[in-house]
Amino acid sequence: MNSDHPAYLKSDRLSTLSYAIRGPIFDKAHEMQLAGQNIINLNIGNPAPFGLFTPDEIVQDMILNIGEAQGYSHHLGIFPARKAIMHYTQQIGIPEVTIDDIYIGNGVSELIVMTMQAMLNDGDEILIPSPDYPLWTTAVSLSGGRPVHYRCEEQNEWVPDVEDIRSRISPKTKGIVVISPNNPTGAVYPKSVLQQIADLAAEKNLIILSDEIYDKILYDGNKHIPIASLNPDVFYLTFGGLSKNYRATGYRSGWVILSGAKHRAASYIEGLTLLASMRLCANVPAQYGIQTALGGYQSIDDLVAPKGRLYRQGKFVHDRVNAIPGLSCALPKGALYVFPSIDLAQFRFEDDNDFVLKLLTEQKVLLVPGSGFNHYDRAHFRIVFLADTDILGTALDRMEELLHQYRA
Ligand SMILES: Cc1ncc(COP(=O)(O)O)c(C=O)c1O
Repeated sequence: MNSDHPAYLKSDRLSTLSYAIRGPIFDKAHEMQLAGQNIINLNIGNPAPFGLFTPDEIVQDMILNIGEAQGYSHHLGIFPARKAIMHYTQQIGIPEVTIDDIYIGNGVSELIVMTMQAMLNDGDEILIPSPDYPLWTTAVSLSGGRPVHYRCEEQNEWVPDVEDIRSRISPKTKGIVVISPNNPTGAVYPKSVLQQIADLAAEKNLIILSDEIYDKILYDGNKHIPIASLNPDVFYLTFGGLSKNYRATGYRSGWVILSGAKHRAASYIEGLTLLASMRLCANVPAQYGIQTALGGYQSIDDLVAPKGRLYRQGKFVHDRVNAIPGLSCALPKGALYVFPSIDLAQFRFEDDNDFVLKLLTEQKVLLVPGSGFNHYDRAHFRIVFLADTDILGTALDRMEELLHQYRA
């Protein structure tokens, strides 16, 4: 054995990257679980472990077609799936999408990384919401770009501050990421704000990357507006998938739709197509579920209706959090999350990380601190409300107990 050899180091490109949803606090929870402790996991938007299952007809379609799914598919995806997504764009008002504008991937996650790798030169900037779904920030850094965060305002129900976006545009800016319905805040952006962002992108010749994976998870009559339906003079990438609307995270199936000013994007599209063909194709069995998913009965509508589980659970967490002195959160308009603030002056916690770690080690409830979503203060955390109200109630009782113990 030669112990003088230097150690094997990770790439420098990874030095600033992190993914808090599966970060050190998650590792600690895993260790506690292995030691036999029972943890309430409210840290990840993964519906199946909470009894929110993929609709049967989607599963049946995959089973029926499993024999057909042995080989690689077309690099953009199988025809009937892309056709169904194309029909969906017609329903929701994204104009002039052809079947060649639809790229199927192994979840939106793969496509976020792929679209960024195809777009960025070293030092190029992408505007990303703060707080964000953190893969967006890491994908930009991993591709050599520089993530620049714009503010979403808590006092304005977490809607982006369009003047703040404008003030951060530089000659290096290439695109703006928009996430609505939003993870982690539960915000759904009104049409007026989306229109302003689209018009700003048109003015500055920026690409819009719109993550709409929660577009059917809407509460209280809130409407989702695809930003790509608004200003035809922008080149748009719109992301969607089976993971959340159809509770199918494990099947790994998502898509990106190219629309708008495609005529100015020929070189970019060539690059993206090259990357799509280099990874050969997305997971094929799951592609057989897409047509049925989009065309069949939309059982998500029952879950988000006022008597539905997701609606009741979101409201329950919101009401319980706001009843605790020192905590407050906005009512979720969409998605699966609330993003409460904690008034640190009232408690003996150093910051969001300290609070979340103590909640885990002392009360066995796992959440994610707000800083994991690139939020600029250290006084927020995210609760996933997929668990039923009994479990959520127990978790919130325990949180209340911890806050009582640490009240300043
Ligand atoms: C906003 C957002 N985008 C993308 C993803 C990743 O989705 P997928 O399962 O399709 O990779 C998530 C997962 O939580 C998400 O919240």
